[in-house]
Amino acid sequence: MARSVDEITGGHRFRRLRKSDWVRRLVRENTLTPDDLIWPVFVVAGKNIEEPVAAMPGVSRYSPDRLAKQAKRAASLGIPAIATFAYISPELKDETGSHVLHPDNIVNQATRALKDAVPDIGIITDVALDPFTSHGHDGVLRNGIIVNDETVDILAEAAVIQAEAGADVIAPSDMMDGRIGAIRDALDASGLNDIAIMSYATKFASAFYGPYREAVGTLDLLKGDKKTYYIDPANADEAVREAEQDITEGADMIMVKPGMPYLDIVRLLKDTFAMPTYAYQVSGEYSMIKAASANGWIDGERAMMESLIAFKRAGCDGVLTYFAPEAAELLNG
Ligand code: PBG
Repeated sequence: MARSVDEITGGHRFRRLRKSDWVRRLVRENTLTPDDLIWPVFVVAGKNIEEPVAAMPGVSRYSPDRLAKQAKRAASLGIPAIATFAYISPELKDETGSHVLHPDNIVNQATRALKDAVPDIGIITDVALDPFTSHGHDGVLRNGIIVNDETVDILAEAAVIQAEAGADVIAPSDMMDGRIGAIRDALDASGLNDIAIMSYATKFASAFYGPYREAVGTLDLLKGDKKTYYIDPANADEAVREAEQDITEGADMIMVKPGMPYLDIVRLLKDTFAMPTYAYQVSGEYSMIKAASANGWIDGERAMMESLIAFKRAGCDGVLTYFAPEAAELLNG
């Protein structure tokens, strides 16, 4: 004779605590607020410019004046910080990315414009060579090799220049060995002890960065791939050791990138190190949700919110996401 459901479950019924909104709210384990959001933005030289990025519906490159307006809006939505990424015009690019060291390059111009217009929003700057190199790699390229130590020297110098322009947090996204310690030393030697480092501690060699490369103009330049410096997507132990190394060298915050396919890494790092831990929901993740939603295949708004709460559940203290203003608007009702 078939057993009854109560015989099978021993009388336990999970659905008791799912039956109405009030009880679902009461047992909810994680919440998302605008405080959890970091907004990555693209900046381009010029005035009064807003250029839509084709592969990222709803995302544009802004000139510093327009970016400042966007940042004001972000601050009023309760978003604590923005992360800037630069589109560099091709004539300023070279083999070593030397324009990264120009104190008045577009990254630093944007920082000054933002600090001036919106003093209460945190500014996180990307320290990496890829927007500045003629080959789109994150380091100096010689005889087909990305040269580690020379790249680290440039990054450390660039970090100081960015901090002097007003960046609050330096975020190296390049995965060269030793860069966190070198950047910490350089900042401290310049009296910039209060500037924090958010390490892209575990950055994987991912296909999900595609749309970003259109946004910063590296798509057609990049030869080969980044497998000699980013982590193999198959490796989790190595990711733990990478994060440990960055923490030892002085990282204040650690990040996992991309986000959704790597939530296991987020949980692992949070449980292992108990550090402020972030994930970067990268361009490809954003564009997939936008594209499926535009086709009517998924409810874009719900997919966005579900993806964001998943980061919290996995252990993130915050998420870098192109959805930040849209999500904050929804959260604010
Ligand atoms: C490189 C960099 C990447 C992203 C930001 N900085 C990856 C890459 O181009 O290899 C990706 C961000 C995204 O996809 O949203 N330093």
